[in-house]
Amino acid sequence: MTKRWSLPLVLVLGLGAGFASIRAAGPTVTIDAAAPAGKVSPLFYGLMTEEINHAYDGGLYAELVQNRAFLDNAQSPAHWSVVQGDGAAATIALDKGEPLNTVIPTSLRVDVTQASAGHAAGVANDGYWGIPVRPQTRYRASFYAKAAAGFTGPVTVSLQSGDGKTVYASGQVASLTSAWKQYELTLTTSNAPTTANARYALTVDRPGKVWLSLVSLFPPTFKNQANGFRPDLMQMLVDMKPKFLRFPGGNYLEGDEIADRFPWKKTLGPLADRPGHMAPWTYRSTDGLGLYEFLLWAEDMGADPVLAVYAGYSLKGAHVNPGPDLQPYIQDALDEIEYVSGPATSTWGAQRAKAGHPAPFKLTYVEVGNEDWFDKSGSYDQRFAQFNAAIKARYPQLKIISTVGYEHPENQRVHSVTPDVLDEHYYLPVAQFLTKSRSMYEKYDRKGPEIFVGEWGSYETPFEPWNARSRTEPPTPNMQAAIGDAAWMTQMERNADIVVMNCFAPLLVNVGPGARQWRPNLIGYDALRVYGSPSYHAIKLFSTHLGDEILKTTTIDTDVLVSVTRDSKARTIYVKLVNPGDAEVPVTLDLKGAGTIASTGTAVTLAADAQATNSIDAPAAVVPRTSTVTGVSASFTYKVPAHGIVALMLGTR
Ligand code: AHR
Repeated sequence: MTKRWSLPLVLVLGLGAGFASIRAAGPTVTIDAAAPAGKVSPLFYGLMTEEINHAYDGGLYAELVQNRAFLDNAQSPAHWSVVQGDGAAATIALDKGEPLNTVIPTSLRVDVTQASAGHAAGVANDGYWGIPVRPQTRYRASFYAKAAAGFTGPVTVSLQSGDGKTVYASGQVASLTSAWKQYELTLTTSNAPTTANARYALTVDRPGKVWLSLVSLFPPTFKNQANGFRPDLMQMLVDMKPKFLRFPGGNYLEGDEIADRFPWKKTLGPLADRPGHMAPWTYRSTDGLGLYEFLLWAEDMGADPVLAVYAGYSLKGAHVNPGPDLQPYIQDALDEIEYVSGPATSTWGAQRAKAGHPAPFKLTYVEVGNEDWFDKSGSYDQRFAQFNAAIKARYPQLKIISTVGYEHPENQRVHSVTPDVLDEHYYLPVAQFLTKSRSMYEKYDRKGPEIFVGEWGSYETPFEPWNARSRTEPPTPNMQAAIGDAAWMTQMERNADIVVMNCFAPLLVNVGPGARQWRPNLIGYDALRVYGSPSYHAIKLFSTHLGDEILKTTTIDTDVLVSVTRDSKARTIYVKLVNPGDAEVPVTLDLKGAGTIASTGTAVTLAADAQATNSIDAPAAVVPRTSTVTGVSASFTYKVPAHGIVALMLGTR
């Protein structure tokens, strides 16, 4: 991190055995509160999401069974093992000869050759880095099964300890038939321990042959929705008060190849009709969290959908030629927009209504592709223009986002038409964010296009974010990175009239061994626990103290980064101060034209050693604290702690 203090300005005081640096004189920030310099975009802070780091499967999507449809690995039933105690014997194998349907073409054959009462045999799943067991908890279990002639069951379904010696909850399906049928039951734990060292087992107590498909187990979900979300993770997101959800984001939209693009039509309806697909981050997606679930997710958070449509370019370089070849993809995007926002009487709106949501979702922004500057064929200009024309012809009210922003060379940008919005992505080391944060969007033309910072995040050098799967660094960033993020947010907030939306990426990471492909990430979790990185707390601090007006500031020293906004109704002024240095800095705030200022305000502060961080085992090492600020007036001094991020709330009337 750059240290910009000139020595005479820093007073180093010895305090007992330790030393703390306190700056003798600091910057003065003059705030023009007489009239706002601009309006804060109403969608300013939001979330970006993609299937990476087991964000959905093994993350937000609450399904506990990994490889529930037996499609993850063509050679062997990954995550499934044989259950065979003393006096019991069984084998398991993938079977393409007995498919559930054409969509899920492989089932699991369980061949029990020896079993009896008290000596059960069958199969067990180890979940996503464990299966979370909690006391007094209800689980929804379901599976499809059929039996070979001469066998009718029963099948015992249970949550057990990892070694199978303790049963935490169980239920029974009395009889199977020779035809595929879905069975559903509830498992309830009583005084079970809280543990993730558990497995989900389906066993029988007599010899026979059974085929299984779509074996599912859900714990309680957010708002108790079927096929729903993990409540603790959802709460973390809701607490950020996001105004939009960008989906399906990033490379997940594109897929490695054209055939692997996000297949939204195949992500709808009953789970047995969803084949899932190979996603770009090295594992298959079940698509249990499909287009409809994305929309519910946004709605549950009080956020607007920002829909990304596949635009004819995939990650490994293949593209669809503009012109007639692209037309089917454009039609697909129009259908998708209709599914999201069309009336229940429209073809695709009717499908949404059938799923349970007759009311159209509010849709303002549609993004065409993802990071199309990677398309070296140069086809994006024409592809974008074709999508733009078709979407605008049918939905003139929509704003269309180009995925190539000003940070890319002129010849990669869209020229044939002027996009409404440009999506810029910044993954930068902390020092670069600190530099960029001083001045950047100030130079952007207010006439547009609008700017969407659709992916951004600071990282601590030398930990470059890409290909982080095999690395040993923590999956989430430390306080130093949170400072870089906060500095960047001051820059975006000062320009929140032209920067209409922004979102950190990636959002989620399962911290299980081998689960991640990227670092740093905002929120980490295992099967039982969840925590926010210092960057999570910084973003939450910013997004929950925002208001709707930008107030212009002038500083005579830019070592502390500043942004000032106001809630025009409540007349609360929010002053964000970010101190990247290792000395406390007294900042003098001169409020001009603010009216009567309450003498007491509130400060929310996130400050810690630059290397400090949170982790799954120490989730609250770096968290914000709230304090009262006294002596507030039209000109007062506030001391910003070293490596500190502060939001001051100042009442005025
Ligand atoms: O968020 C990680 C990846 O970074 C996204 O998938 C992609 O859009 C970007 O390159």
